[in-house]
Amino acid sequence: MYKILEAKTLAENIYEMKIFAPWVAKKCLPGQFVILRVDEKGERIPLTISDYDRNLNSVSIVFQVVGASTLRLSKLNVGDSVYDFVGPLGNPSEIISNFSEFKNKNIIFIAGGVGSAPVYPQVKWLSNNGLKPDVIIGARTKDLLILTEETRAICNNLYIATDDGSFGFNGRVTDMLTSLVNSGKKYDLCVAIGPVIMMKFVSLLTKTLNIPTIVSMNPIMVDGTGMCGACRVTVGSEVKFACVDGPEFDGHLVDFDEAIKRQTLYKTFEGRAYLKEKEGDTHHGGCGFCGGEND
Ligand code: NAD
Ligand code: FES
Repeated sequence: MYKILEAKTLAENIYEMKIFAPWVAKKCLPGQFVILRVDEKGERIPLTISDYDRNLNSVSIVFQVVGASTLRLSKLNVGDSVYDFVGPLGNPSEIISNFSEFKNKNIIFIAGGVGSAPVYPQVKWLSNNGLKPDVIIGARTKDLLILTEETRAICNNLYIATDDGSFGFNGRVTDMLTSLVNSGKKYDLCVAIGPVIMMKFVSLLTKTLNIPTIVSMNPIMVDGTGMCGACRVTVGSEVKFACVDGPEFDGHLVDFDEAIKRQTLYKTFEGRAYLKEKEGDTHHGGCGFCGGEND
């Protein structure tokens, strides 16, 4: 069991928890994720690590309530425990693993909505190692902005954009990046983390701007174990699985349209049966939780 040390609401339906997890805290790096289960019968929830403290043996997660399991998680309080907290899983961020290649680069991070949480530890790590990137944080409206002050404290320039113009720049993150580039800003690398549709449009834009782009395909994961096949994604000419081979990939090579279509299909029994028929057993090795093995 893993005790909850801190719990707070960041915005409507978005929560942050600090969990006592010494093993994960000791080993994890930005970009990696954990799989959490609220109780013995709970489904596996893959969540990107949003911070860690090796002295306190704690790991922080930020999650949005999107179903029964995350709703149950949101109702836990300080002192309660979660049943499982497995990690660190996936590969650390490429910029951190290969820092010597990136340390002189001008980097812009683009965080969409809840994607601000996985961006934070990457920027913090870089900042602690002498590289302060620029960051764009975008949200639909002012009340959905999270971690803005925490990020401002560790980045070079923070640009905030809201779709409805209620705070900062009026427009989406892509409009914000276009405006920065038009004003003369130059970037060698973009890291985009947020909804799949956002990562698609950021990648389309950065391709025209000739800025190499890394995206995190965490949102297409279901069980996060390499077994369910939900996170299958075509990158260039290769089939990859986000939870095992990623979660980060070259945004200019990801087939986002296929990923979005698979995400939609995966939500229904009918859709999962279709994927199994089309893709064979790599679609479903049997995570035992989503029921797809009964299709
Ligand atoms: P949202 O839908 O409110 O979008 C956030 C911002 O993304 C918008 O304000 C806008 O600036 C940008 N955006 C959205 N659609 C766009 C488009 N078509 N073109 C250009 N920009 C666009 O975001 P939300 O509700 O907070 O998102 C939650 C999603 O983020 C979930 O799907 C979740 O899985 C995902 N998420 C991803 C990661 C990751 O590692 N990639 C981590 C946490 C959450
Ligand atoms: Fe990757 Fe299930 S989430 S195989």
